[in-house]
Amino acid sequence: MLKLGVNIDHVATVREARYRGLVVGGPDPVAAALQCEAAGAHGITAHLREDRRHIQDRDVWKLREMIRTRFNLEMANAPEIVEVALKLKPDIVCLVPERRQEVTTEGGLDVVGSLAGLTTTTQRMRDAGIEVSLFIAPDPAQVEASAQCGAQFIELHTGSFAEHFSDPEKGETELNRLIASARQAHGLGLQVNAGHGLNCENLAMLHRVPHLVELNIGHSIVSRAITVGMTQAVKEMLAAMEGYRG
Ligand code: PXP
Repeated sequence: MLKLGVNIDHVATVREARYRGLVVGGPDPVAAALQCEAAGAHGITAHLREDRRHIQDRDVWKLREMIRTRFNLEMANAPEIVEVALKLKPDIVCLVPERRQEVTTEGGLDVVGSLAGLTTTTQRMRDAGIEVSLFIAPDPAQVEASAQCGAQFIELHTGSFAEHFSDPEKGETELNRLIASARQAHGLGLQVNAGHGLNCENLAMLHRVPHLVELNIGHSIVSRAITVGMTQAVKEMLAAMEGYRG
């Protein structure tokens, strides 16, 4: 069964838009996470960015304490954040590239170019009992390097697919890249997640990608929740994921 991890960063984005620098105010990403779990989500994702633009340290500690499904901490391979993760002990970390200027994570990790550093961090996380996922573009060299790195999971970056999916030719090309990478990763013993830009419309086409374990979805769920509530938004997404054959 295809699992849903809900990324609740943008709940904190709304809070920080009014209450930056204060420890009061809402909406509360932890309360949102608990609603997601109650609605059937299989995990919660939060990205503790180095610039703390949305999720704050207090949020990740509260999430660790409160959530009962899996906690996926999205993070850069930066010394300060690595130390937080090793103390926090989420169930899994997803290592992502981070650029200050980007609105959300834009590209995938260059695992090929940073193999030594990523291997060290992966080993430290695994020694602490934390699983590791690497967020990569659907590129054969990056998939190969992810297996060498010792990570258990990759998360395939679906941003380019999401951007082009309504164009029959480009959408098909992007989908085929995801299909090939998922097959390659599975063959190398990696588990395969996917995320970025997914919504109830483009999900139908994504069902053709084999071996998917979990989807990480944030913006489309949080934005839909503004009009219909978090429970309904999560249920709609779970319904769109139903029938996935793997
Ligand atoms: N997965 C990763 C690694 C991400 O960085 C993001 C965006 O923060 C997502 C999934 C979720 O993307 P979206 O908010 O577009 O659903």
